[in-house]
Amino acid sequence: MGREELIRRLQEARQEIEPGQDVTVGPFRPEDALGVALAYYEIYGGSFPLEHVYDPEEILRRNATEDQHTVVARTPRGEVVGLAGLFRHAPNPGLYEAGQLMVLPGYRRGKVATSLHREVFDNLLRRLGLPVLFLEATGNHTASQHLAHSEGLVFTGLEVECMPSLAYAKEGGGSRNVSLFLMFKVFEKASGAVHLPEAYREFCEGVYAKLGTPRSILPPAPLSGETLADRFFLPESGLLRLTVHRPGKDFAGVVAAAEAEAGQGLVQVFLNLGEAAAPRAVDVLRDRGYFFGGLLPHWFGPDGLLLQKVSREPDWDAIQVCGPEAEAVRRVVREDFERVRAPGPGS
Ligand SMILES: CC(C)(COP(=O)(O)OP(=O)(O)OC[C@H]1O[C@@H](n2cnc3c(N)ncnc32)[C@H](O)[C@@H]1OP(=O)(O)O)[C@@H](O)C(=O)NCCC(=O)NCCS
Repeated sequence: MGREELIRRLQEARQEIEPGQDVTVGPFRPEDALGVALAYYEIYGGSFPLEHVYDPEEILRRNATEDQHTVVARTPRGEVVGLAGLFRHAPNPGLYEAGQLMVLPGYRRGKVATSLHREVFDNLLRRLGLPVLFLEATGNHTASQHLAHSEGLVFTGLEVECMPSLAYAKEGGGSRNVSLFLMFKVFEKASGAVHLPEAYREFCEGVYAKLGTPRSILPPAPLSGETLADRFFLPESGLLRLTVHRPGKDFAGVVAAAEAEAGQGLVQVFLNLGEAAAPRAVDVLRDRGYFFGGLLPHWFGPDGLLLQKVSREPDWDAIQVCGPEAEAVRRVVREDFERVRAPGPGS
């Protein structure tokens, strides 16, 4: 069933939810599936980039697997007025993303999101016993940055203008795509080793110190063999994600092909810092106009590093920050962007 048909069915099923009812928060039940899809429709209209969020059957199917865990806020009549979730997203199946946080407009500013967060962090996480968790907090307002920061998540990067603003138009998004802060928390603090590029060493070592995850730094090796990578293209935002499991001698060509597919869009490259040639791949990317995006602990199993390339300057002032930590990350990313814009000796 296509997006149009799914939306049509939601429009038919939609009923007004009386404001001011009591709300309780708890784990997803099969009868919540329609309410979850309706919440997406209510908040994002029909333009959320992932179609499956409008499909109650698919929501039900995913929640019956280990790929998706949802908590919902319900009225006594069982109407869903908010939700939050944990889901797999990265190449490492042990790394879950916390997200899907939303509350219907009529129930906002009453601490429903705070209760959903509590349920995820106090109950769901403990039950699942996850070693590490990450979150992408939007830059069009500071609520989710603030909630995540108060749970001890550390700011590790900033994905500039990557989410379609259409999906956020009802939520104060501008004409630009919305930017996302990367935030991580590590529960099992095992040490590890990374091939860290010199250019980003200082920032990454600062993040490792905040996360309490010691890393030894291994020397780089030249690019060799063939690149092993996969591509994901999100036409609504012009975002192309290139996940590089191993960079090889042909790396520059692989990147050029990804850029050709993205056209005027944004390209994000995720590098595996467990690969000895990762620092050389960073050199290739910096020469092609890429700038720092973030550090991604445990992304591949080994840590990952994000670099990004844009076709026009991001609207930095539109990226809202909830405090000095987020501000510092925005500054680091912006300074590296400025280096790209003004290439010269020492760049
Ligand atoms: C963001 C959202 C989930 C907040 O829900 P809520 O139930 O109103 O939030 P709460 O009442 O629990 O407030 C949580 C904290 O965020 C703050 N906050 C809430 N909305 C805010 C906003 N729009 N801008 C800045 N801060 C906000 C609150 O003041 C509160 O801070 P405090 O603990 O210091 O008092 C809700 O506005 C929403 O669904 N927005 C659209 C979807 C979205 O953007 N989700 C986040 C994606 S990462």
